[in-house]
Amino acid sequence: MRVLGIETSCDETAAAVVTEQGDVLSDVVRSQVELHAPYGGVVPEVAARDHARVIVPVVREALRKADLTVDALDGIAVTTRPGLLGALLVGLSTAKGLAWASGKPLIGVDHLVGHLLAVFLKREGSEARMPAFPFVALLVSGGHTALYRVDGPSLDQIRELGATRDDAAGEAFDKVAKLLGLGYPGGPVVDRLAAQGDAARAVEALPKAMARRDSLEFSFSGLKTAVARHVAQRSVRPEGQALHDLCAAFQGAVVDTLVRKTVTAALREEVTRVVLGGGVAANRGLRARMTESCARRGVEVFIPSFASCTDNAAMIAYAGALRLAAGERDSLDLSPATRTSL
Ligand code: KG4
Ligand code: ZN
Repeated sequence: MRVLGIETSCDETAAAVVTEQGDVLSDVVRSQVELHAPYGGVVPEVAARDHARVIVPVVREALRKADLTVDALDGIAVTTRPGLLGALLVGLSTAKGLAWASGKPLIGVDHLVGHLLAVFLKREGSEARMPAFPFVALLVSGGHTALYRVDGPSLDQIRELGATRDDAAGEAFDKVAKLLGLGYPGGPVVDRLAAQGDAARAVEALPKAMARRDSLEFSFSGLKTAVARHVAQRSVRPEGQALHDLCAAFQGAVVDTLVRKTVTAALREEVTRVVLGGGVAANRGLRARMTESCARRGVEVFIPSFASCTDNAAMIAYAGALRLAAGERDSLDLSPATRTSL
């Protein structure tokens, strides 16, 4: 079974062809980062307009790279939620047009389900370790941060255990990077600078990033405010080693909470497997600490390749292929939504 996936929920225009076994036949991602960088965040109108401009060439390239025509596909999967409405509408309308013209089934996919299943994608050169169900998943992206118990791939087999009460982890990285004058998106830059810093030298300035210690909810806004206060107390922005140390302290506080709560969730749910997903799962500090901490407790960790962590259409195509294989499909009156169905 070969399914085309289309993803336009935020600031990446993406299309991919994937099989129901997770083999990635093509994966095209066109980022809008440069368009939004001057504004320090994603501007919804700008995002929708650019998706409309590039969606057809992106889909065409995904089909060409997979060496397929629309006629050879078994279905067309598309992100329907959550995301920016105008942005989602571009992908959804394109998918409907293709499905209508070709008579192929249309399958709507929740973007968060895509992230949760991205670990099953098989890319050339990537590790072939796959988790068995059930597992606890930590989804950390620019828009979402939550823990789930995943007993299987369908919506009724996924249960939220706790989510953030305020900012998402990626949003906290982006806001802190903006405060420090590091540009947008901030996660990758903070990650790089943190690797050269020493958290211990800056750590007294920052609180722990948590809601209650024993709860599985997160809270990152206090940490962001602490960084803002730390910066405001000084006449110049931290630079050089002081900047690296502050990045290390901030990232350390975020990672510490993410790791601690994920391990708590796994132990509480009595599962021995943990899966990461979402853009922040690309963070090297998080990958290392999660691996280390879980190993100490006999919990196995499964982390998608970098390309599968950040937004892509391969995860949407794969989640769609599983729905299609289970005999599900949607009608052409499918509509987008800003909130997740999880
Ligand atoms: O999953 P994603 O591509 O888009 C959403 O669905 O939100 O996640 C994007 C987020 C951004 O906030 C970005 O700063 C963050 O992921 N991110 C990182 C890293 N790479 C991307 N955060 C920390 N460390 C990274 N290496
Ligand atoms: Zn995402």
